Amino acid sequence: MNVNLQVSIGNLTLKNPVTVASGTFGYGEEYSEYFDISELGAVTVKSLTLQPRLGNIPPRIVETPAGMLNAIGLQNVGIENYLKYKLPFLRKQNCTIIANIYGTSIEEYVKLAEYLEKEGGADAIEMNLSCPNVHDARNKFKCPLIAQSPEWVEKYTSAVRSSVKLPLIVKLSPNITDITEPALSAERGGADGISIINTLLGMSINTHTRRPKLKNVVGGLSGPAIRPVALKMVWDVSRTVKIPVIGMGGICTTSDALEFIIAGARVVAVGSYLFRDPLAPIRIIQGLRDYCISNHLDDINNLVGSITVD
Ligand SMILES: Cc1cc2nc3c(=O)[nH]c(=O)nc-3n(C[C@H](O)[C@H](O)[C@H](O)COP(=O)(O)O)c2cc1C
Repeated sequence: MNVNLQVSIGNLTLKNPVTVASGTFGYGEEYSEYFDISELGAVTVKSLTLQPRLGNIPPRIVETPAGMLNAIGLQNVGIENYLKYKLPFLRKQNCTIIANIYGTSIEEYVKLAEYLEKEGGADAIEMNLSCPNVHDARNKFKCPLIAQSPEWVEKYTSAVRSSVKLPLIVKLSPNITDITEPALSAERGGADGISIINTLLGMSINTHTRRPKLKNVVGGLSGPAIRPVALKMVWDVSRTVKIPVIGMGGICTTSDALEFIIAGARVVAVGSYLFRDPLAPIRIIQGLRDYCISNHLDDINNLVGSITVD
């Protein structure tokens, strides 16, 4: 049986609905030693900033029950080095590329997006409006995330939307009361897709030293621990907006990916679990195909949002 696994975000078609979560796949080089990375629906690269960044001071990763806390702080090579040294490799592999960008102002996001478009550096842009590790999260009133303000989300999205033609994805934060509000703002601002979720703020303490385990004190929680939270947010958002949702948060297996798709995600991303099993996305692609065959589905799109609630 022939199964269509192709899905679309704006005018971009992915050969299948499986990508990787930004920041857990670098720029693909290391993973290409394990599998042919062009088999992914798309490679989503680590957040890119205008200048290279060293990130936060270690320790910046802590293992937690069913997950991990990270406070990497957007360590990345910067946009110029990406275009010069990382992009040629990804293009040679024939990958579809989602370039994730992070800026400290609207102007920076616009610059990054324009630069990527001009240099052919991406097939789609994902705006990270939700990184919890670059602000002083110890003072919650000092510096909120853009994704926590529906008004800012719309402003940032529409500024980038009017500057580039590339498909535009907005990545939102779960650290908010009602995620459908910024999701609607992103849609109004002209986004072609919404990525949910980024990490949940958390912390962990060493009881011997009575010091936080992360040098940054707080970090972002990811992995299976956050899966039910992410799934609920995907369900909420996909019922609210018309544009595709890219679901992530603790996806490890085909069954996890199916839950997200049935809840409403058009695309799914594997993140932290890659550190345990780098081949997980490949297994999931095959698993989705097998599921469609055994359920007599010839198009994965028919599964998206097919949840029945009694
Ligand atoms: C080590 C690490 C680094 C991350 N870096 C980024 C990043 O640079 N940009 C971004 O948008 N999200 C980043 N994230 C968040 C992931 O893309 C993803 O949204 C989140 O981890 C939830 O998925 P998961 O539970 O499958 O890991 C990072 C996550 C981890 C664990």
